[in-house]
Amino acid sequence: MKITVIGAGNVGATASLRIAEKQLAKEVVLIDIVEGIPQGKALDMYESGPVALFDTCIYGSNDYKDSENSDIVLITAGLARKPGMTREDLLMKNTAIIKGVTEQVMRYSKNPIIIMVSNPLDVMTYVAHTISGLAKERVIGMAGVLDTARFRSFIAEELNVSMQDINAFVLGGHGDSMVPIVKYTSIAGIPITELLPKEKIDAIVERTRNGGIEIVNHLKTGSAYYAPAASAVEMIEAIVKDRKRILPCTTMLNGQFGIDGVFCGVPVKLGKNGIEQILEINLSETELEALQKSAALVDENCKSLQTVLS
Ligand code: NAI
Ligand code: 2OP
Repeated sequence: MKITVIGAGNVGATASLRIAEKQLAKEVVLIDIVEGIPQGKALDMYESGPVALFDTCIYGSNDYKDSENSDIVLITAGLARKPGMTREDLLMKNTAIIKGVTEQVMRYSKNPIIIMVSNPLDVMTYVAHTISGLAKERVIGMAGVLDTARFRSFIAEELNVSMQDINAFVLGGHGDSMVPIVKYTSIAGIPITELLPKEKIDAIVERTRNGGIEIVNHLKTGSAYYAPAASAVEMIEAIVKDRKRILPCTTMLNGQFGIDGVFCGVPVKLGKNGIEQILEINLSETELEALQKSAALVDENCKSLQTVLS
C-alpha cells in the first residue's frame, strides 16, 4: 500500500503521521509546492518511528513523480479564506490548485482512490472527479466524518457518556447547510430524543454547524486539523483494511435522495474499492428538504466552474 498526501500543511502533515503510526501503508509520500517543508516534516516523522513503533517509509517531495503508483491519494492542498477574500475568490483559487494537483496525480497513478479534504469540500471533490476521469466510487470527499465527530463529541460531553456509544450522521454539503440527522442519532441504541430535551438537541445541532468557525475563532491564523486529519484517516483505514465501514462521505449522487449529478454527503459503505454502496436511508420530510437544498448550493457552485474546467 502506497499513500500520497498532497499538501504538507496542518491537515496533511497530521494525517501523514497518523497513517504511519497506524501502519496503514508501507510507504507514505508527502508532497507540497513549498520546497523543504514536505522533506523536513516527513523526515522528522520518519525519525519518530523507533519511538512511536512504526516501520512505514515516509518521505517528502516537491515532485509528483514520487507519487507514482499510489493506491490512495489524500488531497489537502489549498488556501484557507483570508480577510478581504470572498468565497468566490477562494472557490476560483482552490479550483485552480485542485485542477493542477489532480492532473499531476493522474500523470503518475493509473487508478488511485482520491480522498479530498480541501475546501470548499463538495465542489473540490467534483473538480477532482471531473479532471481525473476516475470512476465516481474512487473520488470521495471528507467532511461528514468530521462534522459527525463534532456532533458526537458534543453529545457525549452533554450526557457525560463515552464518545464510543454515540451513533450519528451529519449529511449534506460541508458548510452552513449541513444536515445533522437527529432521527438516526442514538446513544448505545437509545434515541437521543429520549435522553435530551429538544432545546438541548437544537443547541448541539447549531454548535455542530458552527464547529469549523468555533476552532478558527480560537486559532485565529488557521482552521481545524486534528479532528479533520483523524477523520480522513478513519476513511483511509476503512479502505486499506476493506472494513466495509458505514460512514458519511461526499459522493456523487445519481437520483438517490432525489438528487442527481451532484456531490453531497450521504451514508456510504467504504471498502477496498472506495464507495461500495450508497445507503438511501429514510429521512423526515424536513431533513430530506434540507439535504436537497444543501445539494442545490453545491450544484450552483459546480455549475459556475464549467468554463474553468472545460
Ligand atoms: P495549510 O495552509 O496548513 O496547508 C495547505 C498546504 O497546501 C500548504 O502547505 C501549502 O503550501 C500547500 N499547497 C498550496 N498550493 C499547493 C499546490 N498547488 N500543490 C501542493 N501543495 C500546495 O491548510 P490546512 O489547515 O492543512 O487545510 C488544507 C485544506 O483543507 C484547506 O482548504 C482547508 O480549508 C481544508 N479543510 C477541510 C476540512 C474538511 O472537513 N473537508 C477540514 C479542515 C481543513
Ligand atoms: C472545518 O470544518 C475548515 O472545513 C474546515 O474545520
